[in-house]
Amino acid sequence: MQNINWTDELSIGIESIDLQHRHIVDLFNRLNEAHKHGHVTVANELLAELIGYKVSHCAYEEDLLKKSGFPLYKMHKLSHELLINKCLALHQRAESGEYVVNEAIPFLKTALLRHIKGEDADYATYMRQSQRNGQKDGRGLLNSLRRVFK
Ligand SMILES: [Fe+2]
Ligand SMILES: [Fe+2]
Repeated sequence: MQNINWTDELSIGIESIDLQHRHIVDLFNRLNEAHKHGHVTVANELLAELIGYKVSHCAYEEDLLKKSGFPLYKMHKLSHELLINKCLALHQRAESGEYVVNEAIPFLKTALLRHIKGEDADYATYMRQSQRNGQKDGRGLLNSLRRVFK
């Protein structure tokens, strides 16, 4: 599995969130490298660190969205919960001694990229526009809804 290259495509334009996303990508790449080199203990530690950080990142984002009055806050929170539940299930299996990193890597790569480029980019569009002109921009909302109903 190839590492994730951080590109402008992954930047959503909100500095604090981009920094956290970069850290998630960095942890993912370190996990991927540890797995490739057969460093089982390090890989297990990095998986736990990545999941822990992802949980705190989602809480930070939800707080930001709630405070900003993002209309699709509950939908975004639900998307986080689905992702976190899958992560926690993997974590539990890892805690009981199973090596799940080989399964976690493709799942995390797909899920993280899809979420950052999808739902996260959508709320950023909405928030940037509403900060800029005090008006609500429907594009981020429409994109989110399209994703649910497609
Ligand atoms: Fe995010
Ligand atoms: Fe998110």
